Amino acid sequence: MRFARETVVGSLLAFSVLSASAQAQYPTKPINIIVPFAAGGPTDVVTRLVGEHMSRTLGQTIIVENVGGAGGTLGMTRVAQAQPDGYTIAVGNMGTQSAAPALYPSLKYDPAKSFAQIGIVNYTPQAIVAKKNMAATNLKELLDFLKTNSAKQTYGHAGVGSISHVSGLVFNSKYGFNPTLVPYRGTGPALQDLVAGQIDYMVDQSLNVIPQIKAGTIKAYAVAAPARLDSLPDVPTTGEGGSDFIFSAWNAMVAPKDTPRDIVAKLADALAKALDDPNVKKRYADLGSTGPQGADRGPAGLQKLVESEVARITPVIKAAGVTAN
Ligand code: MLT
Repeated sequence: MRFARETVVGSLLAFSVLSASAQAQYPTKPINIIVPFAAGGPTDVVTRLVGEHMSRTLGQTIIVENVGGAGGTLGMTRVAQAQPDGYTIAVGNMGTQSAAPALYPSLKYDPAKSFAQIGIVNYTPQAIVAKKNMAATNLKELLDFLKTNSAKQTYGHAGVGSISHVSGLVFNSKYGFNPTLVPYRGTGPALQDLVAGQIDYMVDQSLNVIPQIKAGTIKAYAVAAPARLDSLPDVPTTGEGGSDFIFSAWNAMVAPKDTPRDIVAKLADALAKALDDPNVKKRYADLGSTGPQGADRGPAGLQKLVESEVARITPVIKAAGVTAN
C-alpha cells in the first residue's frame, strides 16, 4: 500500500514539475486562435493584426482558424471545451461574450465563468450603412424611408447573437422597422453582399465598413457614437442626424477556463505589447478602433467588462422578445 501511495505521489510530483517546466517554456508549438466568424470580417481582421505582433513577442507561429456559425457561439463553445494548455484560444466579441446567453437558452458556455480572460482587444463604434444605390441621402431620409418601406428591405448580420444582429435589433425595434433578416457566418461576407447590392442595409462595426465607405462602394449614414471618427470626418454621428442610437462593439481574447495563470499572463503581456505597437495603433485609428488602456487591460479588465455587458445587454434582448429558436 505504502509503495503504491508513494508511486502515485511521486508521479504526481513528476507531473507537476513537468507541467511547471512546460509552462515556463510556453509556447513550444504553434498557437491556434479560433475566430468564431468568417474570414475578412472585423473579428478576423483585428485578430490577425494583433496576432501577428503577438507571434513575434512569443516566438511562435499563430494560426488563425475561422469557425463560424450560430452567431459565433459554435467557435466559442469549441474553445470553452478545448484543452486548457494555451495552444487553443479565441477572440470573441460583445455578441458571443455578452449577448449570446440571453439568446441561446442552451448555450454551452458562460462568458463570465467558462474562460480564462486574457484581455480586451479593441472597442469600435457601429455605423449605419446601406447599399450604394439606396436613395436616402442622410440619416433622416433613411429613417423616413424605412418607416414605410422596411418590410421590403433586407438587413444583413453575422448570425443570431452577433453584434450586427443585436445592434440591428436595437436599431430596428427602436423605430419599429421590420426588415427581412439575412444571417451570414460573419459580417465579412455580409458586407460583400451589401457592396453587391444583394442586401439593403446593415449596422456594422466601423472597423469593417470604413474601407468600403472610403472606396464609395457603400453609403454611410451615421456613426453610432457620441463623436465623429477622425478616420471618417465626413460621416455624422447619429446624434447629428437626430437619433439617440449609440452602440459600441468590442473584441476579447480568451482561453479555456483552467489554462495555467502563467500562460494566461504571457498571452496578456503579448497582447499588451501588440496594443502598444505604433503600427497596430495606426491601423486601429484608421479603422475607427481604440485599444484598452490602464486598468481596462488584461484579465481583470476583461472580466469586469464581460460581467457589466451581460448585465446591460440581457434586459435589452429580453425586452425585444427574441431568442435564437
Ligand atoms: C458581429 O457582427 O458580431 C461581427 O461583425 C462578426 C464578425 O466579426 O464577422
